[in-house]
Amino acid sequence: AHSSRLRAVRIVLAAPRGFCAGVTRAIDAVEGALRRFGAPVYVRRPIVHNRVVMRRLEALGAVFVEEVDDVPEGAVLILSAHGVSRDVAFAAHERKLRVFDAICPLVDKVHREVNRHHKEGRHIILIGHSGHPEIDGTLGQLPSGAAEVIATANEVDHLCDRVIRPLAYAVQTTFAVEEARQIVDALKARFPHIVGPQGSDICYATTNRQSAVRAIARDVDAFIIVGESFSSNARRLAEVAEAEGCTNIQLIAGLSDLDFARLDASEAIGITAAASTPAQSVSEVIEGLGRVFDISMQQVGDQEEGVSFRQVALC
Ligand code: F3S
Repeated sequence: AHSSRLRAVRIVLAAPRGFCAGVTRAIDAVEGALRRFGAPVYVRRPIVHNRVVMRRLEALGAVFVEEVDDVPEGAVLILSAHGVSRDVAFAAHERKLRVFDAICPLVDKVHREVNRHHKEGRHIILIGHSGHPEIDGTLGQLPSGAAEVIATANEVDHLCDRVIRPLAYAVQTTFAVEEARQIVDALKARFPHIVGPQGSDICYATTNRQSAVRAIARDVDAFIIVGESFSSNARRLAEVAEAEGCTNIQLIAGLSDLDFARLDASEAIGITAAASTPAQSVSEVIEGLGRVFDISMQQVGDQEEGVSFRQVALC
């Protein structure tokens, strides 16, 4: 009886959404280390870019630190899913810490790729967002000057001609699929001999989450992306919705950030979640909408990903 007074709103859930295999593996590594070694377990930087996840791990006994120097000698240290530079890995070993690297295997693959290009004498164009931890970690596999970062096709024109050396490119795993394609096309047009990955460095999780958003964005009048504004893959999801013409997009960490006023005229609302967003945060948003609207739910793009990675070896 109560719900009959509420306005009907259709919720379109993107699938897949939320946790990817790399995030699950990194969180499992911290939980496993806590069980095996007991608290505290130190973690350098956000293990994954989500504060709900971090707070929960802190409650279990994880201690997040900025740098390896902040960890007491001999302690257990987990390195984040984004990967680290050689200097950071070296510093951790120097400090005689018990180090476990939760780098996503798909980021590790990019590290191996750029190392190979460098050994084979190629200068590397890294397509990614400067300052993101993954890019810092990938650049940090190489001596300085061995690679440069670009994020737009325009920057290809400005690459100076000293890059007549053999060239290779690599891509941040969470970059926007469409933009990467444009940049790679521009690179190939200017440097026909440039070499790159067989498929794409953009990971399956990023690709699938972006295409689910693309499939929905034109059918809804608002899109809610549940994720942190400092999460690269979350921001890309918002950009994909925008590129598809959706003009009412909210990137929110959780229900408390949701601006209901902006949904006043919405009849259909798309919802997705970043690869580091727990399902709980999405459920809370849906429950919140259910208190204000008479919601019906539909899921689009029922792709089963079926990807899982071997656990981080804690020995
Ligand atoms: Fe790995 Fe992609 Fe997730 S690189 S951590 S599977 S977003």
